[in-house]
Amino acid sequence: TLIDHLSTKWQAPSNIALVKYWGKYGMQLPANPSISFTLNACRTITTVTAMKGTHGFNISYDGEPKPDFAPKIEAYFKRIADYCPWIANYHFDIDTHNTFPHSSGIASSASSMAAMSVCMMDFESTITGQEMDFHKASFLARLGSGSACRSLKGSAVVWGTHDEVDGSSQYFGIDKSNYLHPVFQDFQDTILLVDKGEKVVSSTVGHELMNGHAFAKARFEQAHENLSTLKKALQEGDLDTFIKITESEALTLHAMMMTSHPYFILMKPKTLSIIEEIWAFRKETGIPVCFTLDAGANVHMLYPHENNEAVQGLINSKLAQYCQNGHYICDQVGTGAKKC
Ligand code: PMV
Repeated sequence: TLIDHLSTKWQAPSNIALVKYWGKYGMQLPANPSISFTLNACRTITTVTAMKGTHGFNISYDGEPKPDFAPKIEAYFKRIADYCPWIANYHFDIDTHNTFPHSSGIASSASSMAAMSVCMMDFESTITGQEMDFHKASFLARLGSGSACRSLKGSAVVWGTHDEVDGSSQYFGIDKSNYLHPVFQDFQDTILLVDKGEKVVSSTVGHELMNGHAFAKARFEQAHENLSTLKKALQEGDLDTFIKITESEALTLHAMMMTSHPYFILMKPKTLSIIEEIWAFRKETGIPVCFTLDAGANVHMLYPHENNEAVQGLINSKLAQYCQNGHYICDQVGTGAKKC
């Protein structure tokens, strides 16, 4: 028996990869395992109402109709249909918004697909009377956007099969509780917005560039090794190793794009200036601040909570000038999706 009317509201965060997922096969399966910090401030908040009837949907952003989102949602519903057959009997009204500015160059696909998927699983649990299944929510999110499957839970999330880590390619895997050393449990991520424009290379195109890439095999093997090393560093609070692996992973992601065909440079001169400032500051002060990058020009600056003040000084004196309109976002490691 189907319920006539269902309604729910969830929020899900973005995440920032430390070991990067770059390259995929089959149905959004990763070519190598990855690990990310779940974020806290950068989130998508999604309300969904489902009415029994012919399948279809309306999508709005903060109350305003948003037809440009429709193709993505349609593709998402098509992909999850086999796994959630009940959706065929419902019409959905979806309203969504992000806590971070739409044109910030921060991809909202991870947080939005995660938020949508928890809403779907909330409905499924109401319909079936079973408990909310976060693993399946992660599975559905992955079908929407690969890295979205790491946004359901905190604080550091592994995705992809890997010898020593309890991960899966189908959905997220979180290691045994308390595996993060305290220093990482409230680690800071300040996102310096160098370029707020649309992505130059969509991640779909980016992943494809790894097919037949001259360095693909070595890169995928390296990701496994880096994950093993980083996992240990996260457990032990080994900041030196954390910095070495995290920065190398960011540069490797960009190196893969510079050495693919066609090739791309996604950093901007200001991205490099920021990296140089971070290195100079670290050398001068010994403060363990480092950077990572997405597939774009913005810089994520990662550092322990106790260094907030010193890093804020660096931002004010040196880094803010490299940001578009002086804009940056202060975020930190978070706990995952929540019902509103
Ligand atoms: O989830 P996608 O297909 O948008 O890919 C994300 C890829 C990176 O952000 C560059 C790396 C990652 O692991 O999140």
